[in-house]
Amino acid sequence: MKKTINMKKSLNITIALVAAFSLFSCFNDKKPNYQFMPNMYEPVGYETYGEYDVFENEQEAKLPAEGSIPRGWTPYEYDNTTEGLNLAKAESKNPLEITEDNISEGEALYTIYCAVCHGDKGDGQGILAEREKFLGIPSYADPGREITMGGIYHVEMYGLNAMGSYASQTNEKERWQIAMHVMDLKAALNGEPSLLETVGAKAVDSSNTETSQVEQNETDTEGEDVSEASENETN
Ligand code: HEC
Repeated sequence: MKKTINMKKSLNITIALVAAFSLFSCFNDKKPNYQFMPNMYEPVGYETYGEYDVFENEQEAKLPAEGSIPRGWTPYEYDNTTEGLNLAKAESKNPLEITEDNISEGEALYTIYCAVCHGDKGDGQGILAEREKFLGIPSYADPGREITMGGIYHVEMYGLNAMGSYASQTNEKERWQIAMHVMDLKAALNGEPSLLETVGAKAVDSSNTETSQVEQNETDTEGEDVSEASENETN
């Protein structure tokens, strides 16, 4: 009697072991296994690079819609033409504040990207000019080229003939910082005051106009040229 119980018990254990083993042997860690609730794993939407019949070429990945603008990128409205350059020279304005930081940042970038051709002083005597690898590199002081902040930014965007574009190596802020340094080089070549000096002079100027404004306002309550004073400040 006792023996049969033992027999039954060991049979049960064997069955349990065989069952456990055969279930476990199905487990393959190289492959995904049973999914009891597939919606937990498989997205209901389309996979980014998936293949689906409903799409053209069966590709989920699509080109951005025409006119899309990447995040953080500002459209540049001037064309890559001579008219575009002239327009940029005339009206495109530097949006950054003129600060020592911006200018020294611009100088460092200028040394990396531009000095090989244009020279550290901007006189067109960079090492590649000296070795005659590139010809026709102008001095920024060349009176025949009306070099303005907007014009510099424009040629950084598109390049100009032998000069390549720097739009992919630099971002918008960096291009304006470089443009500031180029304006300083031009000023130094022409013996004119630097940007910071001009800004400093303007600040003194506008504080002068402000005091005279106050004096004026005391007698003339209209205060018509307040707008003029604020214009001076922003310049
Ligand atoms: C490979 C040499 C080379 C490099 C590097 C280079 N330039 Fe030039 N750059 C030129 C040449 C050549 C011209 C004259 C193009 C022309 O008028 O045909 C020029 C012209 C210019 C002009 C005058 C544009 C005008 O209005 O006439 C500016 C401003 C200028 N470069 C700025 C820069 C700045 C800023 C950098 C760096 C981001 C730079 N360049 C890098 C070769 C170079």
